[in-house]
Amino acid sequence: MWRPPQRIRWTPKPGPWPTAAEAASSRLFSPIAIGRLQLSSRTWVPAMVPWRATEEGFVTAQNIEWYARFAQGRPGVIVVEATGIRDVPSGPLLRIGDDRFIPGLRKLVDAVREACDGETLIFIQLIDFLAIRRRPDPARYFQQFLKITDRHRRAFPFDEQTGGAHPDHVIRAKLAALPADELAAILDARELEALRVGARERVTDTHLAHIRDLPSQLPDLFARAARRARDAGFDGVELHYAHAYTMASFLSALNDRSDGYGGSREDRVRLPLEVFRGVRAAVGTDYPVGCRFLSEECIAGGNTLADATYFGVEFARAGMDFLSLSRGGKFEDAKQPAIGASAYPYTGPSGYECMPQYVSDERGPFGRNIEPVSAIRAAIRGAGLSTPVVLTGGIFDFATAERLLARQQADVIGLARQGLADPDWFIKVRTGHGSAINVCEYTNYCEALDQKHQQVTCQLWDRRQLDEPGINKTKDGKRRLVPPRWQRPP
Ligand SMILES: Cc1cc2nc3c(=O)[nH]c(=O)nc-3n(C[C@H](O)[C@H](O)[C@H](O)COP(=O)(O)O)c2cc1C
Repeated sequence: MWRPPQRIRWTPKPGPWPTAAEAASSRLFSPIAIGRLQLSSRTWVPAMVPWRATEEGFVTAQNIEWYARFAQGRPGVIVVEATGIRDVPSGPLLRIGDDRFIPGLRKLVDAVREACDGETLIFIQLIDFLAIRRRPDPARYFQQFLKITDRHRRAFPFDEQTGGAHPDHVIRAKLAALPADELAAILDARELEALRVGARERVTDTHLAHIRDLPSQLPDLFARAARRARDAGFDGVELHYAHAYTMASFLSALNDRSDGYGGSREDRVRLPLEVFRGVRAAVGTDYPVGCRFLSEECIAGGNTLADATYFGVEFARAGMDFLSLSRGGKFEDAKQPAIGASAYPYTGPSGYECMPQYVSDERGPFGRNIEPVSAIRAAIRGAGLSTPVVLTGGIFDFATAERLLARQQADVIGLARQGLADPDWFIKVRTGHGSAINVCEYTNYCEALDQKHQQVTCQLWDRRQLDEPGINKTKDGKRRLVPPRWQRPP
């Protein structure tokens, strides 16, 4: 992962933990409405992919165990990981692109409800993403993947022996033998990208029919997926309009489609609003629907706070029931992956903004999303709209969460990595046992596992009590898959 060059080491220092009585009268543990539903507290576990689904995208016993473990901590909302809306193979990521996925998802919902006596609401994040290829072996790239065009042929005009044009296999061999700087003058930007990091589709590739047709396909795909989520028993859906994926790419200032779905802010927000309307029509007005989007893209030429403020007001005005804000996490500045691996959108400076870790700059890794989210919320309120805003990013303690609510900088506080480090954070704070919390160290151990598509765990608990009978472990038997249960002191 990219880290700021200042390399300043930060340690999370939680403010005072409240007594049970203080927690009971706090803002954080007071209810709030999301659509027709009431959250028991203003706490939220944002979507986190734990890499526990089957290769075919079905829910496993490990998924169920994972979410039920989070539910034991009784946050206000758990958002189930990014779940694919299409019926296409996508590796061990959850899918909801067909009715056959509903029974497994229903089991997951039931397990969560049981684990928290129905106190925690369970939402699911719905995602669409475009194709991305692994970084190829250069020899194979030139032999097989590169489509030879006249532009390449012109770089090697004459066959010295025949005086004619070189056959394509010779062009391929000649290209493969060129030093990087000469290659850069012959291959176009997309060909170089395909060679150096792996080819990646963009929403602006309108020469491809399936990309051109995204605006006519996606509202229905999202709507059907949301309907399945409702049928599986989820309390609501979160449309994934954030990070490096399709919907965020439509919103992006880099989207210059000329078909009415790119260019100006008004046109960039058009498809996200059409998707929302499609979903709303499919699930009804009484079903909570919101979205996750970016307060800033944090890439050159990308969306700024002004863009996000405009989108936030538009989403609220359209009738979304909540808005959850993340930041960064883009492909555009991702690091070059190893040969055979795919680019990962959390490896560059924008990835750092999404999941900032303890080696940081003067600002530090905590609360980097506070200022922009507060501004977006203020603009939404200024437009006369009361849509709840969920703020996430480097928040780990009660004092900060409470202050943000008191200052009206957010309505709900998200704890992703801190929730993973200690899913009992919520119940511990509420019952006056905050000092028993495993405070996240923000080393990004979890994020490194995510990057390698390995089962996500936390270093603060995955080697503890490994001899506990009946626990599930990683395939190598070295890590437990959920933290030990917390025994509440009498
Ligand atoms: C292992 C892991 C998986 C994640 N998966 C998702 C995801 O599926 N969808 C999403 O919107 N964000 C995802 N995120 C980002 C988090 O939801 C959150 O925005 C980020 O970690 C910053 O919040 P934090 O500082 O509280 O951890 C993931 C983060 C981690 C660590």
